[in-house]
Amino acid sequence: MIAPSILSADFARLADEVGAVTGEPGVGADWLHVDVMDAHFVPNLTIGLPVVESLLKATAIPVDCHLMIDDPDRWAPAYAEAGAHNVTVHVEAAADPVRLAKDLRAAGALAGLSIKPDTPLELHLETLKHYDTLLVMSVEPGFGGQSFIPRVLDKVRTARRLVDTGHLKVLVEIDGGINADTIEAAAEAGVDCFVAGSAVYGAEDRLRAVQALREQAVGAAPHRWPG
Ligand code: DX5
Ligand code: ZN
Repeated sequence: MIAPSILSADFARLADEVGAVTGEPGVGADWLHVDVMDAHFVPNLTIGLPVVESLLKATAIPVDCHLMIDDPDRWAPAYAEAGAHNVTVHVEAAADPVRLAKDLRAAGALAGLSIKPDTPLELHLETLKHYDTLLVMSVEPGFGGQSFIPRVLDKVRTARRLVDTGHLKVLVEIDGGINADTIEAAAEAGVDCFVAGSAVYGAEDRLRAVQALREQAVGAAPHRWPG
């Protein structure tokens, strides 16, 4: 799955920018990745619930909210109630991540847990049993257009092994610095869903960029997506 991040889109033309990655299944974006930042958990401020609510009305693409905010226990469930398909919170910010996962699911969303590049996966495996998605950050959260940190692929490999052996049931998502130079290594390591901001919205033809990334991922790990 390819999830373009609108962080690199033109915020004054959001509906058009979403339209630019919309296409048939297997052609257009699978998820639309929306980065919510509060200038506290990360040193950047983006958009919040009102814009997400408007986006949900403007697109049929499942919306993937990545909340880089303090106190997600308080703020995250509203994104699920609004209709986001997947709501991801940071384990570094959540006070009671197990309870929060239950709240997100009760509100009708998939529950996602994100870990920053220096956060070990091993410490959070029990918590992850309550989640549907693991978002491995491959840059320090806060800004688009940063360079991919290859060492996080060890965490992807571990997660993939635990999922494939039935010890964990999460979709493995990666976020940060995914582009034509890095997506193949991420696919080989076992990623299911690739977030790409600048690689999609920095391209002239956004839909073609989505397709090209998907083709590269499938080409790098054909055994994972037969047919
Ligand atoms: C960064 C955000 C990412 C960002 C990725 O904190 O979580 O989703 O948009 O942008 P690129 O793909 O340009 O690294
Ligand atoms: Zn993100």
